Amino acid sequence: MLKRFRSAFSTFHHKEHYVTHEQEIADKKYTIREMSTEDIKELLQLERTVYAGELPWTRSAFLAELYSRYAHLYLCVLYQNKIIGFIGSRASLDDLHITHIAIHPDFQKKGIGSFLLKEVEAFGYRQHCQTISLEVRISNIDAKRLYRKLGYEAIKRMANYYRIGNEDALYMVKRVK
Ligand SMILES: CC(C)(COP(=O)(O)OP(=O)(O)OC[C@H]1O[C@@H](n2cnc3c(N)ncnc32)[C@H](O)[C@@H]1OP(=O)(O)O)[C@@H](O)C(=O)NCCC(=O)NCCS
Repeated sequence: MLKRFRSAFSTFHHKEHYVTHEQEIADKKYTIREMSTEDIKELLQLERTVYAGELPWTRSAFLAELYSRYAHLYLCVLYQNKIIGFIGSRASLDDLHITHIAIHPDFQKKGIGSFLLKEVEAFGYRQHCQTISLEVRISNIDAKRLYRKLGYEAIKRMANYYRIGNEDALYMVKRVK
């Protein structure tokens, strides 16, 4: 009960400062830092590369998240001063929702996605969330396998969730420990 109350409170009031740092992941050094509105142009470019020309998120979607009154953590990964990946998460009551994650194709399968997921999970823990949730395209076999490996369980299928391709989503949840 207390946990639930704290969580609801933190949802509206807590702004946490994420400390920019260098992180070694599979023998390469990356900079991990909070996303800012100045990154949006580069993020849209990265999205075009990751999603073969399509833009799952617009500039206004990024802006809405970065200015959200809900507790949130949006992180970028930089390699040699270029953004090569990012993750977004937003707390609501006792759930931390992962809104977006994308890694440049040249940098996939190197452990960066797993690292970012762990960073937002730790944020969820500090925000007193009890669950971490996300949606993934039914056809996204690689992402689903990764999420399962990291402890996410499939809860329900959401029909026609994605506008692009009119595809179903799988809603997955992990309990925060
Ligand atoms: C899904 C996505 C975010 C995963 O990010 P990633 O950085 O590739 O993830 P990781 O490297 O941590 O893990 C991916 C796989 O590589 C493996 N891996 C991690 N480090 C590795 C290393 N050093 N050497 C070899 N394999 C490695 C992981 O074990 C995992 O294996 P699995 O496929 O058997 O589960 C990324 O592929 C992506 O951006 N995809 C396109 C956009 C997308 O689908 N977004 C998700 C929407 S819900």
